[in-house]
Amino acid sequence: MITHNDKTLSLESRVVLSDKHTMPQLGLGTWRSESKQLQNIVKEAILNCGYRLIDTAWIYENEQEIGNGIHEALEQSQGKIKREDLFITTKLWNQHHAPDDVEWALRDSLKKLRLDYVDLYLIHWPVAFKNMPGNTSSQSEDEKTRYFNENVTLTDTWKAMEKLVDLKLTRSIGVSNFSQSEIDELFKIARIKPVVNQIELHPYFNQHNMREYCAKHNIAIMSYSPLSNLKRETERDEDVSSLYNPVIQDIAKSKHKSTAQIIIRWHLQNGLIVIPKTVTLERLIENFEVFDFALSDNEMRQIDRLGETHRRRLVNPSFRLSNKPVFDD
Ligand SMILES: NC(=O)c1ccc[n+]([C@@H]2O[C@H](COP(=O)([O-])OP(=O)(O)OC[C@H]3O[C@@H](n4cnc5c(N)ncnc54)[C@H](OP(=O)(O)O)[C@@H]3O)[C@@H](O)[C@H]2O)c1
Repeated sequence: MITHNDKTLSLESRVVLSDKHTMPQLGLGTWRSESKQLQNIVKEAILNCGYRLIDTAWIYENEQEIGNGIHEALEQSQGKIKREDLFITTKLWNQHHAPDDVEWALRDSLKKLRLDYVDLYLIHWPVAFKNMPGNTSSQSEDEKTRYFNENVTLTDTWKAMEKLVDLKLTRSIGVSNFSQSEIDELFKIARIKPVVNQIELHPYFNQHNMREYCAKHNIAIMSYSPLSNLKRETERDEDVSSLYNPVIQDIAKSKHKSTAQIIIRWHLQNGLIVIPKTVTLERLIENFEVFDFALSDNEMRQIDRLGETHRRRLVNPSFRLSNKPVFDD
């Protein structure tokens, strides 16, 4: 069992990665962020709230707005905040897994982000699509099956990722949505080891096994969908999101904090990197005000137990490779 409970956290808390670079523990997620608001939210996050980590992906189609937001923040800080103070993560999309496409994909992201390098580049999913126009995630399942590229292996893609470090286009490389066996495959050939696995992780899906595996292999975990706030149209908030859980509500009430702040703090005290997404200024501020209180061991345990009683994976795309689901749980 993971027993980590770090109560000595601060705004400056950083995680040391296995390649010796460090990264901030709390950042901003940007999936499904309305582009109109995003540029301003990124600027506010960096300039006025203290965020230093921004997470995006080529497929989110928002790197341009993020690049503009970063640019504005640095400019308006008048030299007080520098590029090297920031930690920017983006991701290789499934259709760019072929080794010849990997460098193009990162250069395309960099151009949109208006950066010379990113701090961390992740393989977004352990699934290769053929590189064809429009071959993105928005297709029907049938079409997706047709467009899979079974000739490209994860190890081919990883070798191309390593070259990006050599070219200084990214400082660190890692993976997302990878299983233990897929990471084991990379370890067999890796010259540069994956420093991060970005995975769905929240009180209702606490990934204990993966956390133990990553701790053993010195891989940092980035918790995605950390607030588990991803309800579908027919679902009720209360049934899906730990933001409405009575145990967490009670803890929040006793600490005069919001449930989001309790959940974010739970991630941090577990030593996880956490990237809650918001395009609302009040929530952007709220989600960063998590350094003036601590959860006791007992409160941490109460939240841990929700993973057994309410276990639920929220992000589970219909990608199939050789008719094998991406996730086998
Ligand atoms: N690697 C991957 O495959 C993958 C998959 C999913 C996500 N991610 C990354 O992880 C990030 C976070 O995950 P997510 O966006 O899925 O979900 P999340 O951060 O768990 O939840 C975001 C939702 O919660 C709301 N919210 C934010 N702060 C809140 C607060 N203080 N109180 C109440 N509601 C609040 C947001 O609404 P408003 O925006 O309206 O405030 C939004 O609807 C993503 O944005 C992305 O960067 C990666």
